[in-house]
This record gives sequence, structure tokens and C-alpha cells, in this order.
Amino acid sequence: MSTASLKTSNFLKENNAQHMWHPMAHPADSQNNPPKIITGAHGVRIRDVDGNDLIDAVGGLWNVNLGFSCDPVKKAIAQQLEELPYYSTFRGTSNDAVIELSYELADFFEPDGLRRAFFTSGGSDSIETALRLARQYHKVRGESSRTKFLSLKKGYHGTHMGGASVNGNANFRVAYEPLLPGCFHVPSPYGYRNQFNESDPQKLSELCIAALEEEIAFQGANTIAAFIMEPILGAGGIIVPHESYVPRVRQICEQNGILFIADEVITAFGRTGAWSGSRLWGIQPDMMCTAKAITNGYFPFGAVMLSDKVVDVFEQDTSGAAAIGHGYTYSGHPVGAAAAIACLAETKRLNVIENAAARGTQLFDGLNKLKDKHDVVGDVRGGRGLMAAIELVADRETKATIDKSTPLRIQEATYAEGVMVRVSGPNMIISPPLIVTEQDVSDILAAIDTGLSAAHG
Ligand SMILES: Cc1ncc(COP(=O)(O)O)c(C=O)c1O
Repeated sequence: MSTASLKTSNFLKENNAQHMWHPMAHPADSQNNPPKIITGAHGVRIRDVDGNDLIDAVGGLWNVNLGFSCDPVKKAIAQQLEELPYYSTFRGTSNDAVIELSYELADFFEPDGLRRAFFTSGGSDSIETALRLARQYHKVRGESSRTKFLSLKKGYHGTHMGGASVNGNANFRVAYEPLLPGCFHVPSPYGYRNQFNESDPQKLSELCIAALEEEIAFQGANTIAAFIMEPILGAGGIIVPHESYVPRVRQICEQNGILFIADEVITAFGRTGAWSGSRLWGIQPDMMCTAKAITNGYFPFGAVMLSDKVVDVFEQDTSGAAAIGHGYTYSGHPVGAAAAIACLAETKRLNVIENAAARGTQLFDGLNKLKDKHDVVGDVRGGRGLMAAIELVADRETKATIDKSTPLRIQEATYAEGVMVRVSGPNMIISPPLIVTEQDVSDILAAIDTGLSAAHG
């Protein structure tokens, strides 16, 4: 390292987490255990301030699907900054990039039955938008009693007040209560631990569906605006429902006049090995929340996609009730739109679903082999594209929960082997870019293998 870069790196280390608070972290913890400083990236690899080169098995934050060297997206952003760096899409103005993107997205999501986009600045905004539009949808239809939301325990829907209210994990809720009234949670099909003590995926699916039906009957269907879920639960620890679950839930929502919102902030654009999580399960949602990979993580952006059913109610309204009193300064940002157009073209050109499916299977099989070798692995989840998790336990027999420090020690040991993984509570979550090679996945598995050996040391 040169003297100049050493000076810079000392400055960075001295000031790391000293003048900012990090999301999802205790401020004092960030100061005492400073975060890794990432200074560069190339392909599927990142480089830290000490010059270590690592495979990013997190994929940014489930968003850098095409890796860090996606030139078409970079060029589109640079060019758009030259031509039109910003203009609003509030009533009365639009821009060329966002018009083109809306056309492209309508085509891309046509198999999902979605034909209009409402643009946002990210995932939490997309959730907030969908929840608000769901309530308005029922008001426009003249059924204003439908205001409640149902969602899954363990689900993650971002951190705005609406999203936190439908969130199914206490970590993101308790400190911020009281949350939105009228939000109710039903059990998720989490096979490893559940209140039914049921490990058979199909039976568990039936029990969870019965619980949903019971909750709908208890609340009164005519009070419920929407049900929201992730097709595969991500931050909750990669909970993959049995194949019977999502189609049946979708049907129940339809029968009860409840809108089905698919939170595809992670799953849209190929991560599951299908172009959307909805397509993976063979359903069409009423609304779909997207963000993250829509711009490969290079620009904060999102889109809520809307089905015919929702579109018709809004567009055919003549009373004025369908006027949308919602939106963001950055809704339809031209630079985000240009990034998304390029990203979508590249996503399709690379046909990323094929690699996501194949490498996802390799990853899942490899993690299962590690389970045979390491007692600390309680459960391995995944098998549908490039999203997988290891649930770490103190005792495999009793499933006793692991202490806080062991997952972090494993993460650190994996890092030392050249692979960045994410640890969230007891879960190690693996979600690499969709362009990883067979060798990359082997390297990820080898590093995790060594990392897991640090559990007892
Ligand atoms: C399923 C899901 N929904 C919503 C969000 C929130 O997105 P953002 O962090 O862009 O606001 C996330 C973020 O990870 C997510 O995984």
C-alpha cells in the first residue's frame, strides 16, 4: 500500500462509524466493532480498505444481481445524468426515460398479469405505496370498510410505518410502537420451528392456510383491504413455502375480496430462478412491489406493478376518488428509470434465471453437505434460486437457540477465507449475484465450511 493510500485508510478507520449511525445496528456497537470498509468492487467481488478481495455472497443487499461491473447500467446512468439529471413526474410532467421504462415493465410483467407501474425510491416506499393504494382501491369501489392488512409472522416488508406494521419480526417493531392499527399476523410456513410442531411441508401449509382462513373469518372479510407476503421470505431466514401454499392463499384472498400483494422486492427479476416469485408459484398477484435489482442496486429505485383488476377500478372512476394523493419527489426519477431500462435489457440478455436456478441448486446441495459435517447447522433452507440460509443452533437435537457471538465469529472466519456472508440473528443468509460461476459457488461453500469450523473455537 502506498503512503498516500495508507493515510487515507487511517483516516477512514479512525472515522469509521464515528459520525454516522448505521441502519440495523446499535450505534455504540458500530463504534466498538467497526463495520468493514468496502472501497471497491469488480464482477462478483468486493475489496475492503485493507486490500482484501472477497466474493460478495450477499450480492450487495440482495440487489446487485448482475454484479458490480455491469457497464450498460453504468453507462445509462452517466448518459442520463448528462441529458436530464432530474425532473418530477408529479401531475403535469413526465420524462422520456420513465415513459420507456413503464412500457418495458408492462411487457416484462405481462405474464404476471400486471400492466401499470407506480414508481418509488426503493423497497419500503413500494410497500407503503401498495398498502395505501389497496385502501384507496376499496374506497373507490365503495367498500370503505376494508382497511385492515394481514401478513405473515417472520415476513419483512421494510421499515416505513406501514411496512413495519405488517412486518412479522419483533426486532423491527417493538421500539417503534405503536404501529398502524388494523394489522394482523398469521403463522408463516416455517417448517423448522412452528406453533403446530409440524415438519411435513404440505401438512404445515394446510395448517397455516386454516389459520389464515380463521383470521379472515374472525376479522370479517369485509374489513380487510389486503394480504401481503413475500413469495419466499427473505430477511426472515429464507422460508420457502410448500408449493401448495401461495396458490391457495391467492385463491382465498380472491374469494374474500382481499387484495393479494406480492412483496417481490427481493424476488422480482430472477433471484428465485423464475422471473418473479409469483411466476415461480404460478399465481398472478393484484399488486407486486419491486425495487432492489430493478437497477442492480446502482440507483435507489422501485416500482409497484398493478393488475387489471386494480387498474380498471382506478382508471374507470369518474367520481374523482381515484386521484392519487401519494408519491415521492423521486418517483420516476429519470436516472433511475434509465438505469432500470438498461438493467432489464441486460437481465433478459443474460437470461439470469437459468444460472440462478442451476447455481442455486449447487449452493443448496453444498450447504446440505455442510450440515452433515457441522453440528452447529440446525437447518438449511433454499433450493429455489440463489437465496439460501443456514440456521445456526447451539444444539441440533433440542434446536436450542445459538448465542449472539457465534454467528458473528463464523461470519468473521468466512470473511477471512475471502467470502462475505450476511448474518441476521441465528441465520447466515447467502444471496450472491445471479452471475456467479460454478467455481464461485464452490469457493463460497469452501469458505463457509471453514467459517463453520470456527463455531467451537
Ligand atoms: C421483502 C422486502 N421488502 C421490502 C424491503 C425494503 O426495501 P428497502 O430496504 O429498499 O426500503 C426489503 C429490504 O430488504 C425486503 O427484503
